[in-house]
Amino acid sequence: MKRVNIGVCGLGTVGSGTFNVLTRNLSTIRARAGCEIVISHIGARRDNPACNTGGTRISKDIFAVANDPEVDILVELIGGVTVAKDLVATALQNGKHVVTANKALIAEFGNELFEIAKQNSVTVSYEAAVAGGIPIISALREGLVANSIEWLVGIINGTGNFILTEMRDKGRDFEDVLKEAQALGYAEADPTFDVEGIDAAHKLVILSSIAFGIPLQFDKVFTEGISKISTIDVNYADELGYSIKHLGITRRRENNAVELRVHPTLIPKNQIIASVDGVMNAIMVKGDAVGPTLYYGAGAGSEATASAVIADIVRVSRLCKETVESNVPHLGFSSECLNSFDVLPIEETQTSYYLRISVEDKPGVLSSIAQIISQAGISIEALIQKEPREGQDLVSVILLTNRALERDIIGAIEKIEDLDSVAGKIVRIRVELLK
Ligand code: HSE
Repeated sequence: MKRVNIGVCGLGTVGSGTFNVLTRNLSTIRARAGCEIVISHIGARRDNPACNTGGTRISKDIFAVANDPEVDILVELIGGVTVAKDLVATALQNGKHVVTANKALIAEFGNELFEIAKQNSVTVSYEAAVAGGIPIISALREGLVANSIEWLVGIINGTGNFILTEMRDKGRDFEDVLKEAQALGYAEADPTFDVEGIDAAHKLVILSSIAFGIPLQFDKVFTEGISKISTIDVNYADELGYSIKHLGITRRRENNAVELRVHPTLIPKNQIIASVDGVMNAIMVKGDAVGPTLYYGAGAGSEATASAVIADIVRVSRLCKETVESNVPHLGFSSECLNSFDVLPIEETQTSYYLRISVEDKPGVLSSIAQIISQAGISIEALIQKEPREGQDLVSVILLTNRALERDIIGAIEKIEDLDSVAGKIVRIRVELLK
């Protein structure tokens, strides 16, 4: 059997999981790969008690792995973008294939790294960068290759989904649940990446590029986090038959344009994806031929992510020592045939809307609001008004609209907020029916 040497850089949660799963399932993995896969060199500053690396060579300097002539595939699991980018570039320039779980690295520097890979006739594989153990990149690049993709919607940050689930089911406050998510190890080192949607934006950009064959454009994603979602809105949404999920959404629009956005979204409770709770991830993809499809599983965690890392190691091992760029295009489209779609500004995107308006309890208020909305060319799908709470003068009016352009609803909201009988700012959350 051909032997393929793997160099693993980083022995944290995912690195130790990769080592353990490869060791435990070695004979099956070898049989499936058709070659002998050996971790020959580890780059890590310290041992990890979660795995027994035995006699494997360990270097404190990770660049020793990238410069080791014996290593065929470098597995980058150190995270971050600065050192990781230098490490990956060095490995590629040294003619090594790279496998990485680093979503920020691919989303922000993928175009550049793919070019270096191409020039050196090697490849960068990144299945583990999106949605942990769910093989969504293989599904898009291979399983759905016959389709023109219409849209993709994903719950792609486990921490955010855990927070929203706990708020809905247990009425807990945002801050309280976030602390628990950090303690359980779900959150990123900087948890604002989770709650402000940056982590999801990294993953969405990658998925959108593969779905539509467009270059990676992280700077163009509209990103809104979940930190402003209150338990009140989670409960009203529930009453209207909706769940609030933090979604990454990309949709193909007319005239070679795409929407690329991450934000809290109301979705009908009868959609399967609405019942994806806790830290689980799910991605719905609609292809013109296959219709809607759904991919569900653990989006984070040591061995779940290792599952995707090893899938890439096996895939690349099968191709090792061949010229692979033409066989495995990095974004699923040959690099000469990438599309140049425009990413639409958020004002040009279309969704339905949930609005919560605090108003004085007096005649004519509702009709003035309805008039403004109708003058903006937007129709109202549902409306509820709550009794004022004891000792309070203001009542809540909750509206669901039909699909409208973002700029039209923003204009209508500004006018409604100017009404004398309307108090404070209107809460607005986008709604997707996923049809
Ligand atoms: N912080 C990420 C999440 C980890 O919560 O989904 C996996 O990318």
